Amino acid sequence: MTSQVRGPQLARLLGQWHALPGRRRSPDYAALAGAVRGLLADGRLPLGVRLPAERELAEALRISRTTVTAAYRQLRESGHLASRRGAGSWTMLPGTHRVASTGLWTPLDDRDMIDLGVAALAAPPELLPAARAAAEDLPRYLSGAGYHPTGIIELREAVAHAYTGRGLPTSPDQIMVTNGTQHALDLVLRLALAPGGSVLVEAPSYPNALAALAARRARITTHGLAVEEPGWDADLLLAGLRQARPKLAYLIPDFQNPTGHLMPASLRERVVAAAHAVGTDLVVDESFVDLPLDGTVLPPPTASFDRHSRVITIGGMSKPFWGGLRIGWVRASAPQVQRLAATRVGVDMASPVLDQLVAVHLLAEAPAIVAARRAQLTVQRDALLAALAQRLPEWRVTVPHGGVTLWAELDGPISSALARAAEEVGVRLAPGPRFGLDGTLERFLRLPFTLPAADLAEAVGRIAAVRYDLDRGGRSRWREAAVIA
Ligand SMILES: Cc1ncc(COP(=O)(O)O)c(C=O)c1O
Repeated sequence: MTSQVRGPQLARLLGQWHALPGRRRSPDYAALAGAVRGLLADGRLPLGVRLPAERELAEALRISRTTVTAAYRQLRESGHLASRRGAGSWTMLPGTHRVASTGLWTPLDDRDMIDLGVAALAAPPELLPAARAAAEDLPRYLSGAGYHPTGIIELREAVAHAYTGRGLPTSPDQIMVTNGTQHALDLVLRLALAPGGSVLVEAPSYPNALAALAARRARITTHGLAVEEPGWDADLLLAGLRQARPKLAYLIPDFQNPTGHLMPASLRERVVAAAHAVGTDLVVDESFVDLPLDGTVLPPPTASFDRHSRVITIGGMSKPFWGGLRIGWVRASAPQVQRLAATRVGVDMASPVLDQLVAVHLLAEAPAIVAARRAQLTVQRDALLAALAQRLPEWRVTVPHGGVTLWAELDGPISSALARAAEEVGVRLAPGPRFGLDGTLERFLRLPFTLPAADLAEAVGRIAAVRYDLDRGGRSRWREAAVIA
């Protein structure tokens, strides 16, 4: 799976590499190598990609070839690049790092890191009793082979029941259980999008969804979200659908990741109608639908406006319950579910029975568990907002009334530089450009409020310290770099 990045493409990704905040007095070749390491570290430049030949990159950046040669040499020495004479240079992961759950790199020993790259809560106390109860249930399944491509009936019933309770009548044969929402998206894309097919997504959007689309080599058009609520511009979104007529649109209407926006009912209805009119399938990601805060009343589910099986809904247990459970689902028409099941047989065949039983037990207690999650998230969000207001008052944030993330507009195009500097002081950040496609969004940063309030306050303090260091060009002394860039 080798792919290649061309000179102009890498130049675009590198952006203002020579004038990054906090660059200090390093020579050009070191700044260039540092910027490439930054792109690798935050996932914008994948592993195993062939970089442009030295001459090609020099031309694209309008710098001397010697500078590129020296930068590539430094990248080879630090373990970020492998070169073979006559064949080219490929990006690689240095032996001192591994790929973390976010897809970002992390040093092998990162135990002290406050990780704001991941937007997910630790497991609730009810998980262990649910797992024990599930083990007790297991004998009921042991006489069969254990492969259930659409999921065990008890779980499909529980998930269908929850949709029906939200005002969207659903039968168990409209549900397919998957190994998480991300897996649900991957299966839906395999079924509904031919390689190279056209897709409309929000910008910013969930990076792993963008990665799944990239794996299908999707041709992507974007709908830009505003920082202010509600985020979506109704006329622009509908015009975008009508003009691009994409095969598929991937939307996160319920507390969008990363912005936290909630799509109003009227727009849901209009989007579904427009999608039907132009022949677009809508994939609606409901990952955060269980997590409204501040008494926010949810609009009807997007699929409730669907009369033509245009909407495929995906969701799962990761955000309200626990990501480690790896339980998600697809809600679609019964024939679509059967087609997905047929697709799945060539992928992973079925989800683990034991984990599905754990999910059944958790869903039986969902109201109490989810209420506690919302209370916890409210406290943590407020702690994060208070710390930001105190330490970084120039940043602009819209208070999210649900979900687990807020999207901050920074006081300059510094997101990647800030993420690199924060890593040095033990805070992992996912910089804005990770949530887009073209290296823009440098003015933005996603901050999840899934960690305890004290950690969030500590993290904001450290971020504020390195933020001001970026301007001063000084160097933080928190700890020596275990960093990539
Ligand atoms: C919008 C969105 N979709 C999907 C996922 C992945 O969820 P899962 O752990 O269920 O695969 C996430 C996780 O952050 C998400 O934010």
